[in-house]
Amino acid sequence: MPLVNTKELFEKAYKGGYAVGAFNCNNMEIVQAITEAAKECNSPVILQVSAGARKYAKQSYLKKLVEAAVEDTGLPIALHLDHGADFEICKACIDGGFTSVMIDASGHPFEENIAITRKVVEYAHAHVPYVTVEAELGTLAGVEDDVKVEFGKSSYTNPDDVEEFVKRTGVDSLAIAIGTSHGAYKFKPEQCTRDPKTGVLLPPPLRFDILEEVSKRLPGFPIVLHGSSSVNQEYVKIINANGGKLVDAVGVPEEQLRKAASMAVCKINIDSDLRLALTAGIREHMNAFPDHFDPRQYLTPARDYVREIVKHKIREVLGSENKA
Ligand code: G3H
Ligand code: 13P
Ligand code: ZN
Repeated sequence: MPLVNTKELFEKAYKGGYAVGAFNCNNMEIVQAITEAAKECNSPVILQVSAGARKYAKQSYLKKLVEAAVEDTGLPIALHLDHGADFEICKACIDGGFTSVMIDASGHPFEENIAITRKVVEYAHAHVPYVTVEAELGTLAGVEDDVKVEFGKSSYTNPDDVEEFVKRTGVDSLAIAIGTSHGAYKFKPEQCTRDPKTGVLLPPPLRFDILEEVSKRLPGFPIVLHGSSSVNQEYVKIINANGGKLVDAVGVPEEQLRKAASMAVCKINIDSDLRLALTAGIREHMNAFPDHFDPRQYLTPARDYVREIVKHKIREVLGSENKA
């Protein structure tokens, strides 16, 4: 089976009340961990590449790795550009064989967002085979390499805007802002309550009212959630027990993501949770075996941890097991 776009993946996910996981990949170990987990769970999966990943590993290397994973697993896999900042990067990925792209013009005023998105949609849909396009309305908080929005500058999606945006742009899916954010520090401690027993921060709930309103305005239309790592504390603990220092790292509770996946959300983006699992595996190994210096020694348990967390997400959060 060749790489697929997201059209059919989302149609099935919408009807089936589950979401397809979109996991960020930056190297071979991450691609293998994600796709081996998906294979074990017989789940469709989206592998996404950010601008930072293209810089780090080169688009052509990542594409070949993903093609190897398709060959290895036989699963429906989409190769997606994550947070394309402009038409040029989207075009480069479409020309380079990506089956799906995100144009993220959400930092621009509404009319500009429409114009930029429309241009990408025209190019992507004219491509043979058809490339699907995701866009974003509203802005998430959070800080990563190429995606930086300060707390206080984020804004929820306004449901009044979505019909016009989708109609005028022709996009295939829409990312909305309902309280998730990028990175491992999604909420400031003052936005949370603290569990008196464990000391762990409990974040504020997502704005399901906005999601419901958006899906009423766009019946049957696939919605995307970015910033959907849960910052599983078991990995934070391993990191901190082995020389790391992640203080008050907090994510979106998994039950809330499961609820979103049963609604109109068809794609859930997860990156930070994989970074944490990989880092936990490396730190734990290095601490236990200070004499090791062969990357295969420490990348093997790190890849195992990423595989485990992806399986957990597919089974307990996305609901996409046995949907390939
Ligand atoms: O949403 C952004 C992704 O997590 C990618 O992050 O730009 O550091 O590769 P990155
Ligand atoms: P996290 O930082 O929550 O993993 O979000 C990833 C993401 O949205 C990639 O686009
Ligand atoms: Zn994102």
